Order: sequence, then C-alpha cells, then structure tokens
Amino acid sequence: MNIVIIGTGYVGLPVGIGFAELGNKVVCVDVDEIKINNLRNGKLTIYENGLKELLVKNLSKNNICFDISYDSIKNADIVIVAVGTPQSDIDNSVDLNFIYSSIKEIAKKLDNSYKVIAIKSTVPIGTCDKIESLLNNENIDVISLPEFLREGYALEDFFSPDRIVVGSNSKKANDLIMELYSSFNKDKLLFVDRKSAELIKYASNSFLAMKIHFINEMANLCEKANLNIDDISKGIGLDSRIGAKFLNPGPGYGGSCFPKDTLALQTIAKNYGVNLSLLNATIDGNNRRFIDIANNVCNFVKHIKSPTLAIYGLSFKKGTDDCRYSPSINIILNILKACDLIVKVYDPLAIDNAKKILGDKVLYFNDKYSCLKDSDLLVILTEWEEFKYLDFDILYNNMKGRTIYDCRNILCTTDSRFNIFKVGSGSFS
Ligand code: UDX
Repeated sequence: MNIVIIGTGYVGLPVGIGFAELGNKVVCVDVDEIKINNLRNGKLTIYENGLKELLVKNLSKNNICFDISYDSIKNADIVIVAVGTPQSDIDNSVDLNFIYSSIKEIAKKLDNSYKVIAIKSTVPIGTCDKIESLLNNENIDVISLPEFLREGYALEDFFSPDRIVVGSNSKKANDLIMELYSSFNKDKLLFVDRKSAELIKYASNSFLAMKIHFINEMANLCEKANLNIDDISKGIGLDSRIGAKFLNPGPGYGGSCFPKDTLALQTIAKNYGVNLSLLNATIDGNNRRFIDIANNVCNFVKHIKSPTLAIYGLSFKKGTDDCRYSPSINIILNILKACDLIVKVYDPLAIDNAKKILGDKVLYFNDKYSCLKDSDLLVILTEWEEFKYLDFDILYNNMKGRTIYDCRNILCTTDSRFNIFKVGSGSFS
C-alpha cells in the first residue's frame, strides 16, 4: 500500500518505518528540512531502540523515503497525520495549528482518487468532523487512528499493539484499514465511531496517569505508616482487574503525553460542562509531588554549608533522551528555586536535551561516578538500568555525604555505609 505519513516525530517516524518494514511504500513528510536530510542519510532524529537499523534497512530497500513536499499524496492510498498537538501557551487546550496547516497542504494535493486521511495525532473530540468539513471532498474519508506507542518501546508497541482503535464512519475506509493491518491479528482491531476513538486516546492516557498518581499517594501513606510500597503494589497488582503495570511509584509522571493529555481532557470535559474530579486530583497531585520531592531535598541540605547535590537521570523515563515535561527537570528547577546549592547531573542519553532547558544552572557530567565528586546527597530521578547496581566503594570515596534518595526505587543493592531512602518505604522527609 502507498502510505504518506505527515510528521516525523516520536510517533510518525516509528510508524512510518514500521509500515515500511511490513512491505508498504512509505513517504514521510516533514517541514523540517534538516530533519528530512538527516533521515534521508539514515541519521535518526530521535532515540528509539532498534529504529536506526530498520530505517537503514528500509532505505536500502527503497520502502521508505523522506520529503518536505506533499506531492507524494497524489499516489497515496492512506495519509496518516502524525503532527504534534502541543498544549496551547494560552490555556490548557490543545494547539491544533500543526494539524490545520498540514490539512491545508493535503487539500491542495487531493484529486478525485479515493484516499483515507487518518488522524493519528491526539486531538479533541470532534476534530475529525472539522477536518472533514475543511477538506470538503467526497473522494476522501477522514478517520481517527489514535496511537498508543510508548516512547522507548515504539517498535515493540507498533508490531505488537494491545489494540488498534479505528474511529470511522465509512465501510470503505474500514476495508482499507483491514488491508493495511492484514498482517496483524484481526482481534486487535476495534472499530468505533470517530469521536469515540478521539476520546479513547485521552481517556486511556488519563487512566494510566491516574493509576500512577494513585500508587504515588499510596507511597506517601506507606512512608508515614512505615510500610513498604513494593508489597502494596505487588499485592494490588496481582488482581487481574487492576494489573501490575503502571504501579511503580516514582517522582510523578511526565513526558510529552500524560501532562498534556490530562490537561486537555480536563479542558475538553469542562467545555462540555463536565467536571472530572479524579482527573483534577491527579493533575494537582502530580504537580504537588514535584514540589514535595524538591522540598525533601532542600530540607535535607539546609544544614549543610554550601551543599552539593548529585542527580542521576534527566529524561522523563528510561529508554529515551526526551526531557519534555520530565519530572527530573521539574524537580531540579524547583530545588534551584527553593535552595542555594551546586547541582551536578548525569544521564546516559538526555544531557543534550536537558541543556536546552537547564542551561548553565547545573553542571553536566558524562559518566555517573565523576558526577558524584564532593556531593552531600545523591538523588536518583530516572530509572535507567545502570543505576540498579552502583559501586558503593566509588560512591564512598567520591561523595562527601552518605545518603541516597532513590525516587525510582531502582537501586537493587544496599550498603551499610549509606542511608538509602526510597519512595514509599521509610520517610526521607
Ligand atoms: C504514554 C502512554 O503510555 C502511551 O500509550 C501513549 O501513546 C503516549 O503516552 P509515554 O509518554 O512514552 O507513553 O510514557 P509512559 O511509559 O507511559 O510513562 C509516562 C510517565 O509515567 C513517565 O514519566 C514514567 O516514568 C511514569 N511512570 C510510568 C511511572 O511513574 N510509573 C509507572 O509505573 C509507569
């Protein structure tokens, strides 16, 4: 099938490469010429496990190519729109400028051949209806095809999705989608109407965010009641109706989706006159958590003369270089606001992206041990695998302090020379 993907970001690129790997002819379009040239030369613009190998392989097989023009739409069977829908700067609504500018470009290239325009970007309820009236072309069907990829697991989630939600009011479009996903298990396909598909995406992310906030609040209770959150998490997760995933306590959720999508759903609901009380509490509680963790750190260092803090982890989660709405970055900024200290940071992948936000407010190190020199406290904020096993002799010989605040409960070993505090067991505050 001839597929055009508009947008080569964290969703568009893995989806385009995934469809190319399945034998389709894919053209990925983006306005960013530098990005397009990099991709043409097999140079990835995002970090995703295994993506580079597939990109190079499908470039050599001519299954995929990259373009800044929309000309390829003429021969497309399906156009998948995967441009960003960031949070608006004015309020918590969704900024649809990239969507509408790409729709305008698509409209110019439509002729009287049948095409499906699939909106993969996360968009408010009713956006596909608006796009359909904007295009005003009886030779096309607009469908909602929301994406559920997790950053860091994009290819895994593309090739073995839990579900493929298709929001469509057209049998013809449904038949084309069934052909597109013919190599997938048919049971994975869920056909609903367009608006339901648009809401499913927000509801799914909001529920996951709520689940994370719930376990973080249970962690707070465990700290006060002197219990261990790991036991609670395991105990409730064994209930098949709850499930063990997304019950890892941490510094709060972040990333380019949960913070944006929860706020967007809150606004969407408000516009329908509906108050989502659980969602409101999740948003407020998650933001509060960043401040609470920062305050815990400042309370710890306030008795130390010119304290030095070492931070492990800058990305919003392991497996990615993405620092957008990263809890780690948010907590560091709150710490710098609340107390005067030197902050040394290390992250295996995200330093370049972190520099764009933190600038020279902190000191960057390219390995986890040199970051520790003379530090009074080590705080772990991202659950990178390399933080699971630390050489405590090196810590002992380099750190001034003997305390570790493991906000991801990632450390697998202890050492009697150190006081190790985890979220949800024993109280650091
Ligand atoms: C999310 C959704 O999972 C995905 O389906 C959707 O398509 C895009 O948004 P992503 O933003 O990549 O994916 O990250 P995810 O793995 O969901 O984690 C989001 C945040 O929650 C991260 O900050 C992560 O560290 C945190 N998290 C996740 C927890 O704190 N605890 C958990 O148990 C799981």
